[in-house]
Amino acid sequence: MEQLYSQQAIARQTARIGAQISRDYTGQHLVLVVVLKGAMFFAADLARAISSDVEISIDFVRVSSYANATQSSGTVTFKTRLETDISGKHVMLVEDILDTGLTMRELHNYLEKQQPASLKLCTMFDKPCNRAVEITPDYCGFTLTGNDFIIGYGLDYAERYRNLNAVYRLDPEQLQH
Ligand code: IMP
Ligand code: MG
Repeated sequence: MEQLYSQQAIARQTARIGAQISRDYTGQHLVLVVVLKGAMFFAADLARAISSDVEISIDFVRVSSYANATQSSGTVTFKTRLETDISGKHVMLVEDILDTGLTMRELHNYLEKQQPASLKLCTMFDKPCNRAVEITPDYCGFTLTGNDFIIGYGLDYAERYRNLNAVYRLDPEQLQH
């Protein structure tokens, strides 16, 4: 497996995004909506990179679209819905990776219906080459130029590798469909 993003590089980007969010939301309350399971690692680090001048609350949604494959199935199933009443609140969706954009679009529509005061998208990785819908993150750590399948720092392949501290490219011969 080839390492693409080191633990230090990830920490630097997380600190940068945290500082940006701290500036943009100073004095406000922000609800982080974390997309389980992959984004939990990034979200835990990001939340602690946001200054105490921003009041944070955290909630989770769980969706699945991959069913152990490396291609998006195109349909998004909600497995857990939000507990928080987000109407009138500033909300930020926190994702691990934005690929086709189908997951984000579904989640965006689901949250938008609940009439938040504002809704932004934050993702650690953006893989724009597979995009099926028009969507761009408001906050992003790294943009992937190719179509690599990456693992580590929350990202999995068939539930494995989430615990790696750095991010690696999964070798094509390790992929089984
Ligand atoms: P989308 O709906 O195609 O944008 O897919 C987003 C979801 O697919 C992410 O939340 C990830 O769970 C998963 N995903 C997409 N690309 C990768 C990858 O390179 N590695 C691991 N998971 C991925
Ligand atoms: Mg995910």
